[in-house]
Amino acid sequence: MARIIDGKKISQEIKDEVRAEIEREGIKACLAVIIVGDDPASQVYVKNKKTACEYCGIRSLSYELKADTSEEELKALIEKLNRDSEVDGILVQLPLPGHINEDNIIEAIDPDKDVDGFSRRSVGALSIGTDGFVSCTPAGVIELLKRSGVDIAGKECVVMGRSNIVGKPMAMLMLRENATVTVVHSKTRHIEDICSRADILIVAIGKPEMITHDYVKAGAVVIDVGIHRIDPEKNDGRKLCGDVDYADVEPVASYITPVPGGVGPMTIAMLMKNVLKAAGKR
Ligand code: GUN
Repeated sequence: MARIIDGKKISQEIKDEVRAEIEREGIKACLAVIIVGDDPASQVYVKNKKTACEYCGIRSLSYELKADTSEEELKALIEKLNRDSEVDGILVQLPLPGHINEDNIIEAIDPDKDVDGFSRRSVGALSIGTDGFVSCTPAGVIELLKRSGVDIAGKECVVMGRSNIVGKPMAMLMLRENATVTVVHSKTRHIEDICSRADILIVAIGKPEMITHDYVKAGAVVIDVGIHRIDPEKNDGRKLCGDVDYADVEPVASYITPVPGGVGPMTIAMLMKNVLKAAGKR
């Protein structure tokens, strides 16, 4: 029987801390959120970000651009927000439509306003261990572990997945916490053997319920970053699942994050923390 890491509760604590600090210090913080096109999942994420801003006492500006917006138009808006002294953080919701180069857009954001932590300067700072904005989802995983009392230093950590948003920064953060880190991916051989060595297994592979108990050492901490929509009629009424087969893994793990209610809510809470940091810096 694993202990369940309650991301909903922990993310609420963090939002309450941000809200209290903003109130206590009389901080004026403002986040600009840009969405291009009408991807339904992105629209839900953006709406949730706005709601969290409101809760924390952060002003949010929202820019909803048509799917055929050009890269130049998007850059022009970012440059305007870069110059706007009222704006502390700029977030461009990803993915962007195919005709826009995401890398160019991320680099157009002033690194001092890069609350997503995606820019080269932010990623560089993370890898050499200097101060900077850290990508929200992996930063949220660290908070979940620490606030659940999981010791990280000296532990064997396996990160499954090597995306720029999750896997790579996650590995860097776990290194910073003095874990021994292995990253596995689609070309890794003997993947089950490697995962089975992990004291802490962090899964971000984007494959519904792929991780069964065969990948998990008895007593391991299992963090599931995946989230997938599934048919409730074929899944006992469940609408969402993660990359981990929860029912199969839970009996062997010591701690586990559920989906929903695990890592998911942490991303927005850490974004609120990054906006507060951006406002404090300026
Ligand atoms: N799309 C999926 N996750 C994220 C995120 O953390 N930030 C942004 N900007 N887009 C995303």
